[in-house]
Amino acid sequence: MNGYLLIPAAGSGRRMGADRNKLLLPLLGEPILAWTLKAAIATPGVCWLGIMVHPQDRADITAIVAALHPEVPVELIEGGATRQASVWAGVQALPQGADSVLIHDGARCLATPNLFHRCWADLATTPALIAAVPVKDTIKEVVNQKIVHTPARDRLWAAQTPQGFHVPLLRAAHQQSLENGWEVTDDAALLERMGHEVAIVIGEETNLKITTPADLAIATLILQSRL
Ligand code: CTP
Ligand code: MG
Repeated sequence: MNGYLLIPAAGSGRRMGADRNKLLLPLLGEPILAWTLKAAIATPGVCWLGIMVHPQDRADITAIVAALHPEVPVELIEGGATRQASVWAGVQALPQGADSVLIHDGARCLATPNLFHRCWADLATTPALIAAVPVKDTIKEVVNQKIVHTPARDRLWAAQTPQGFHVPLLRAAHQQSLENGWEVTDDAALLERMGHEVAIVIGEETNLKITTPADLAIATLILQSRL
């Protein structure tokens, strides 16, 4: 298995309200990003990591990577103004020979090696996939604080990362989105717009994205229960 992985980490963490990129904040004594990287590095078959970073975080993230003593090459790539732009920068920096790639948000620091492994394994036969879990809440579509629609819950899944793609397909999707000015919040949505099928890998209920201080508190409890 050739496990290439791109980690978008070039955000600012505006919704966290901290004075720096949320990925640098401590979680049980280590930066959030360190937990994400540890799980990725511990996955059998991982062969290369690319981390998209904001220039102002480069020194901090270099130190985080060095402290982990990774056995695989880790490259820091300058990210862009949006997650989509950061991913595109990462795709362009993939080494020759990377036929398929997983993309995993730096902010999803509770994903386990088992999830990375299952995604890489499925990529051998599936050109586009994402981790997702069935939603537990009933979801309402709301306009001006009024409900306009209640979609059937049994068809609703919450998208997570990793999201995995065969590289030529992912390149084509990003190129088409640049030409058409599509703006989306995940890579699967680009493929969907192209009319391409995207498969689901069963995600992990604990694979939350650290977005607000409440997420940080929940992640602390989950990690403590694992240690
Ligand atoms: N990301 C990125 N480049 C950007 C914006 C986001 O690489 N220009 C990354 C973030 O670092 C994060 C992931 O994409 O790991 C998911 O984004 P999100 O959770 O929205 O993080 P932020 O954009 O940093 O947070 P916020 O939206 O609250 O500002
Ligand atoms: Mg964001």
